[in-house]
Amino acid sequence: MDFFSTATLHSRKPADLIVIPFWKGSKHAEEAAEAASFAKLLAEPLGTADFKGAEGELLVHYISGQPEKRIALLGLGVQAELTVEKLRRSYAHVTKKCRKLKLKTLNIAMPKCTAMAEQDVVRGLSEGLLLPNYAFSDLKHDTLKDGKPVLLENATILGATKSEIALANKCATICESVDFARDLINGNADDITPQYLAAVARGLEKSCRHVKTTIFDKKRIEKEKMGLLLAVNRGSFRDPAFIIVEYKGNPKSSDRTVIVGKGITYDTGGLILKPRGSMETMKHDMAGAAAVLGTIQAIATLELPINVIALVPSTENSTGSKSYKPGDVYKSYAGKTVEVMDTDAEGRLVLADALAYAVKNLKPSRLIDLATLTGSIVVALGEEATGLMSNNDAVADLVVTAGSETGDRVWRMPMYEDYKEQLKSDVADIKNIGGRSAGSITAALFLQEFVDKCPWAHLDIAGTSFLTEAKRYNPKHATGVGVRLLVSFLESLA
Ligand code: BES
Ligand code: ZN
Ligand code: ZN
Repeated sequence: MDFFSTATLHSRKPADLIVIPFWKGSKHAEEAAEAASFAKLLAEPLGTADFKGAEGELLVHYISGQPEKRIALLGLGVQAELTVEKLRRSYAHVTKKCRKLKLKTLNIAMPKCTAMAEQDVVRGLSEGLLLPNYAFSDLKHDTLKDGKPVLLENATILGATKSEIALANKCATICESVDFARDLINGNADDITPQYLAAVARGLEKSCRHVKTTIFDKKRIEKEKMGLLLAVNRGSFRDPAFIIVEYKGNPKSSDRTVIVGKGITYDTGGLILKPRGSMETMKHDMAGAAAVLGTIQAIATLELPINVIALVPSTENSTGSKSYKPGDVYKSYAGKTVEVMDTDAEGRLVLADALAYAVKNLKPSRLIDLATLTGSIVVALGEEATGLMSNNDAVADLVVTAGSETGDRVWRMPMYEDYKEQLKSDVADIKNIGGRSAGSITAALFLQEFVDKCPWAHLDIAGTSFLTEAKRYNPKHATGVGVRLLVSFLESLA
């Protein structure tokens, strides 16, 4: 069943809670709800002036004689200053409150706002409700004993038109794919292996129309001579996988976007082992892979009229007697040789082979890669924005726009040639690390060596894909960053 439906104020069915939007500075509830009955119900809480309608302010009040037992006043701030992002952040408070009170069903009065298109209001409201409506409890026994975490099951938007509800449910579909990505990232690294990711990719072929999945196993990867993916894989007892998922939503067009996701299912650092404290979260080193698979799921479910191919080079970066060695030189799929100075800079190695594969075989109109690539980007931008590096202003601008529209914010970094000095090798064509400075940029410049002249954007999601604490509408740990961003970016091309 769809998450969102519509009704009028008078035809509404029972629900656990009714949510009334409230603008800062307005005096009466009916201005927001257009319902005199609410004004009476709310006279008391509003009369105290405790509630001001500030952005995200939430007041729950118990009522009788209504289809709901509870009413919530939700502050949306000053009407003229409303943005989609403010709506997301405000409605996220509703979901969090419902989680605490174990409420499942909502009636929501549609905010009437002259400052913003109704479509945008619906987008912000539905994403704000759904993005925090997530729990990962697969690995937790105790919570299961107390009863599973309660999530919202449906919401009725009072006064919404049919097309607004269709849009809200489209947002819900995309949010399901965000959750799909989150589940892959939050799962144990020993469960979410390269072979598991391959099986998930095969599942997309089964569950979605116009999707074709191809998996290269180790033998095929050897035959293709993907020397860098194989080098990283050497220390792992698990085989690598090279995953290709093609979605053809517009077969008549030759335009196609290739999206590449880093699929390191666990990053120990390799022989240059990560120190204590730096390894515990490294199951999320496949967040790029999760994002591109989630994106395919979303666009294929929505049957968007575009062509997209997702590539995932996947392996663990482990240690073992066969591990690849600092100081040794390995030959890439593209033919360039790489002096491996640091086995912990493995992401750029597997991505280099995937990018080169795309350029050589897939005729991409544009290439986008997503990767938890560097600690440096976390130093530069923290958890607040994804780092963007690109060789093409038009593509970069579209990505930045998609970022500000979705709240998956991105910030572009410079790619001056001068930084490339750092990657010079005495024995090979290139080194896999630079010096201490500008680490995210030198990583991107390394990747750029493998994309030829193809319009390309690299998104470093090391800081935005996995949070130490729940923040705004994102839960603790996996955020699913990149799914909404890519869907919006791809839609802007169509
Ligand atoms: N997977 C890490 C990057 C990372 C760090 C992701 C923190 C998420 C949070 C990557 O493979 C890595 O180890 N990069 C090194 C590169 C260095 C050796 C040049 C880093 O950033 O320290
Ligand atoms: Zn690493
Ligand atoms: Zn890594």
